[in-house]
Amino acid sequence: MKSAKEYISEHKDRFLNELVELLKIPSISADSKYKDEVIKTSEVIKKSLEKAGCDHVEICETPGYPIVYGEKIIDKNLPTVLVYGHYDVQPPDPINLWDSPPFEPVIKKTELHPEGAIFARGSCDDKGQMYMHVKAMEFMTATNQLPCNVKFMIEGEEEVGSVNLAWYVERNQEKLANDVILISDTGMIANNIPSITTGLRGLSYVEVEVTGPNRDLHSGLYGGAVANPINVLAKMIASLHDENNHITVKGFYDKVEELTKAEREKMGEAPFNLEKYKKALDIDAVYGEKGYTTNERNSIRPTLDVNGIWGGYIGEGAKTVIASQAFAKISMRLVPHQDWKEITQLFKTHFESLAPAGVTVKVTPHHGGQGYVTPIDNIAYKAAEKAYESTFGKTPIPQRSGGSIPIVSLFEKELKSKTILMGFGLDSDAIHSPNEHFGVWNYLKGIETIPQFFHHFTQMSK
Ligand code: BES
Ligand code: MN
Ligand code: MN
Repeated sequence: MKSAKEYISEHKDRFLNELVELLKIPSISADSKYKDEVIKTSEVIKKSLEKAGCDHVEICETPGYPIVYGEKIIDKNLPTVLVYGHYDVQPPDPINLWDSPPFEPVIKKTELHPEGAIFARGSCDDKGQMYMHVKAMEFMTATNQLPCNVKFMIEGEEEVGSVNLAWYVERNQEKLANDVILISDTGMIANNIPSITTGLRGLSYVEVEVTGPNRDLHSGLYGGAVANPINVLAKMIASLHDENNHITVKGFYDKVEELTKAEREKMGEAPFNLEKYKKALDIDAVYGEKGYTTNERNSIRPTLDVNGIWGGYIGEGAKTVIASQAFAKISMRLVPHQDWKEITQLFKTHFESLAPAGVTVKVTPHHGGQGYVTPIDNIAYKAAEKAYESTFGKTPIPQRSGGSIPIVSLFEKELKSKTILMGFGLDSDAIHSPNEHFGVWNYLKGIETIPQFFHHFTQMSK
């Protein structure tokens, strides 16, 4: 029987070319200018699933962008793996910081990817990682090695909050019934240190608005005599962290899961090089909540960060003005047991209470989602572990991530199934940033490892 390794080496160029073609379509879900391209991408995915051997593929319309669904049911008595991924991408901005155009993929060598990496928006998040599953499916069907049933659900609105996917999942519980959900939309520690993501943070995203005088004012004539909304907003934001970098929002930590000393020690065993971390970011020091390590700060601890702030005059030269309004976008990354709706409310109450006389404050919630922790004592984790062992020759390390995929907790609620996160990207792959890339080695290694998961999961389910 042909091995995945052999099949991949025979079809490597085609596997790369197909991904390159997919990456050329700017499927930016956040920007309605790209509507036709997003829809076109869903059609390309549909065709690719058909070619990969799915029996039944359909484009499912939603109030937003379509979901591509595909399945191959070989035996009702065998387990079913549901693969989830997303075909939409983040906007490429700021475009002038890209070394090559974001939708004209090029393969270049990097220090961490000596065999080359594909540079393009979406290469790692998540077209490249999603497409590994399509190619793994192709391998399994073409060589008669699909061991169980498979369902694909590939959406086009992950980067804008998956609102319509939630709508779809609630309405299609039976159709989506499965034994495990498999997702490649996270990362791993390094190419020689495989890891399985065991946690995702939740999210609460809000926009705040501070309004002072009814018009922009001359900063000489009125300066010092009225509240300046930008000064006020800066002060309010600064007060959201104390001197230990704890978040000051009342009640914020009430439900935060505290890990035991043993759990934290176990976490601390994961390889991490602080000097390399700083060097890669060109910073001379890390920064964060007192009493926690860098790896803890960006995974098991909640955060509050300004993502954008604006107001007043930002054009060329100087303009002496006190703006009538100031704005900021704020994200809070949440950890297990923090409820995003409750945190959003706590933030709103707290932030509004900070407003001094002379201004009004408005807090508008955007979107959010719950965090998720995957069990490591179930067969899905054990099957994934075996899969990595067979292709990397090493036992993967469980690692909680700081990122969010809010739909995962909804899957558990609506479909009653656990998710396994087999990510093959690196943190340094620059997802959401200029020059996003995905290692060619990682792409092919993913295609090789996924069928192993299917095999072991089916075996262990017996
Ligand atoms: N794939 C990422 C999430 C991710 C990346 C998790 C790396 C773990 C490691 C996903 O596409 C994403 O960007 N999610 C958003 C949240 C969403 C609601 C916009 C995020 O984490 O900011
Ligand atoms: Mn993603
Ligand atoms: Mn993303």
